[in-house]
Amino acid sequence: MNDGAEGATSLRDGLLAEHAEIERLLDDVMRAIEERSGASLAWRAFSSALLAQIDAEERHLVAALSNEGSARLLRYEHCYLRGRLRELGCAVDEEQLEAPLLLKNFRDVLRAHARNDDRLLYGWAETHLNAERRDAVLDVLTERRRVMAKR
Ligand SMILES: [Fe+2]
Repeated sequence: MNDGAEGATSLRDGLLAEHAEIERLLDDVMRAIEERSGASLAWRAFSSALLAQIDAEERHLVAALSNEGSARLLRYEHCYLRGRLRELGCAVDEEQLEAPLLLKNFRDVLRAHARNDDRLLYGWAETHLNAERRDAVLDVLTERRRVMAKR
């Protein structure tokens, strides 16, 4: 498994590594809230990384997915995640007392979504995308992970 931000050779490994990196950004938000310093900034880094992943998955992978039921489920989950991001962003910015618990719950939701991504999308993409398209998706993924590593 090559999961370095310099570029994964396996699409599935790279996408799963991106999930782990996004989760670390969420940990940064929770730490910042605890330390009462920089939570809004940490939230923006986390939120934009997750939105970038969701947008790219939909554009490059879900759109090509042949199983319509799987595609519908993943789009629904992405839609739910986008909505939660808006609500949680307000909770973080307004320093609401329940924000840490809400974020902890959101981390569980993200983990469940990552399992569905892997089960329904990543394995399929690994074996069904042609080499040219797979390389293009890998290039975009590598760029996203480079941006995230700078945050
Ligand atoms: Fe996803």
